[in-house]
Amino acid sequence: MYQSIYLEKISASGVLPADIYIKISDRYLKYKEKGQELETKKIETFLKGGMKVVYFEEAEIPTVKDWLGANADKIIDEVVASAGGKFKETAKKSLKSKDGLIEALGAEEMSDDHFSNLEKNSSGFISEAVANPMTGKAINALLDGAAGIAAHSLNVANLSIFLAMKLGVKDKKVLDSIYLGAIMHDFGKIRNKSEVLNSYEVNNIPDDHPDKGLAVVKKSAGLDPLVLEIIAQHHEQFDGDGYPKGIKGDAIKFESQIVALANFFDQNLRLTAGTKEDIHNMIKSVAQGNSTLFAPKLFPAVTEALKDAFK
Ligand SMILES: [Fe+2]
Repeated sequence: MYQSIYLEKISASGVLPADIYIKISDRYLKYKEKGQELETKKIETFLKGGMKVVYFEEAEIPTVKDWLGANADKIIDEVVASAGGKFKETAKKSLKSKDGLIEALGAEEMSDDHFSNLEKNSSGFISEAVANPMTGKAINALLDGAAGIAAHSLNVANLSIFLAMKLGVKDKKVLDSIYLGAIMHDFGKIRNKSEVLNSYEVNNIPDDHPDKGLAVVKKSAGLDPLVLEIIAQHHEQFDGDGYPKGIKGDAIKFESQIVALANFFDQNLRLTAGTKEDIHNMIKSVAQGNSTLFAPKLFPAVTEALKDAFK
């Protein structure tokens, strides 16, 4: 007997604690053996190919869960090492958000439980961020280079909160909505089977995923209208050249503008090797988007914040 584990939960590095299987035409094929490594590139290729889960023998599941837990602890330790001990809780809550997000994205249909989980995790993360505002070092340490739409969405959410707070947003409810909107901004892609897969936006070809995303999340009664607006507007541009509506200027909500900017940053950074120079160039591209892609009122606070985070 085999049990599935979401592929996005499998750490991109580290040695497999048990044999790993993939399912092809209802047959389980051993892909790699215990002790071997599952490379990042391979996970990315699997995700792009539409694979959501991998399998382990049922008896090995406790071992696999311990391994996943140890990998999570390693990530938390890395954040603490580079940003300081006071960000331990922030890192823990961020990982919790990612897990909830992977579950929601992996489900055939989003259930109320998925939504309430996302809301609960978001609220926990924001409480922590309000009590203990993130520094540039913390946001940099939290940047997740893993393949998959969950890692991208989480980066956009973390970066959006960092920027929003730098721009003076203090209201926890507004921060909650920004985080949730950012976490769910590409949910429209789960309707495009071939695109979920694509994990994050490789290009910026207009399509209807913002509207589709809205359709997915509207099923949950009680989401703040700001969350819906952020999802709908995350590809709009200040000069009106964005999509799907082509609205411009302040017709785009301030909070949506922040998420659009964070999305631009992470999405384009993923097309690079992510070196220091790439990050430097990305900050420059953001600055070049001033008054075309983004509102001048976001500058220079945003460029300063990004420089601080990625210096
Ligand atoms: Fe998008």
